[in-house]
Amino acid sequence: MKLINTLAEMQALKHPEGFKIGFVPTMGYLHEGHLSLVDASKKDCDLTIVSIFVNPAQFGENEDLDSYPRDMERDLSLLKARGVDYVFFPDAQMMYPNGYRTWVEVEGLSDILCGASRKGHFRGVCTVVLKLVNIVKPHFMYMGDKDYQQQSILRIMLKDLNLDTTIVGCPIVREQDGLAKSSRNVYLDPNNRQIALCLYRALIQAQKEVRSGILVAETLAEHAAALIESTGARVDYVKIIDSRDLNFPNEVNEHSRMVIAAYVGKTRLIDNMLLVSP
Ligand code: PAF
Repeated sequence: MKLINTLAEMQALKHPEGFKIGFVPTMGYLHEGHLSLVDASKKDCDLTIVSIFVNPAQFGENEDLDSYPRDMERDLSLLKARGVDYVFFPDAQMMYPNGYRTWVEVEGLSDILCGASRKGHFRGVCTVVLKLVNIVKPHFMYMGDKDYQQQSILRIMLKDLNLDTTIVGCPIVREQDGLAKSSRNVYLDPNNRQIALCLYRALIQAQKEVRSGILVAETLAEHAAALIESTGARVDYVKIIDSRDLNFPNEVNEHSRMVIAAYVGKTRLIDNMLLVSP
């Protein structure tokens, strides 16, 4: 596994003719969710590149940029064990040198759901991912379904900007009790770790209700929100979206996905699930 921390070196990499390049962009503090993306890339591609960069541009002023968990040594040993070919870890000055002033925004979808409470978040995500894609030039980019809005927005960005990279969405990896794996789970003390399960439980409840014939999106969302709030967690949003375009349907169909963001203590967690099992 080769470590690269300059743009020049990363951009100068030459790959054998016809090689398929898989890319997994991350902010580090890796867990099984990230590693499942690496495994998917290894399976499909000839070469797998992982980036580790805690992108300051996607954190709001009062968010957790400074405390965001980091453990480079552990990350590198996990990636090495998984057979990754290259790890790219630029620093913030390299990605955003003094005088940096170009930003990318996907209109209309960046200020709903997570974008409504995290102003500027998706502008930061789109900008850094576009830069990384330009530097790494992957054929496929592997992203977890947990950040479903992020994945959908980035797909549109790549298409609108005629980039030759395809996003491969991979299933959410969960703890045994259902909690979606997240680097931010490390913030949860034992009590909040228990409370955090309410997101998963609310999703499962909604699936059951759909099976029992309740199809009105607003009713399902209200019930899910009530379950979450009953545990002491605070709902940021509970919505039902159409997985294809992030529109909000009135009635559930096979494309409907419940998406949730909630605060457990100070930790903001997200999760989502298709409401009709495929
Ligand atoms: O999902 C993440 O970890 C980040 O938003 C990403 C895609 C690596 C961009 O910084």
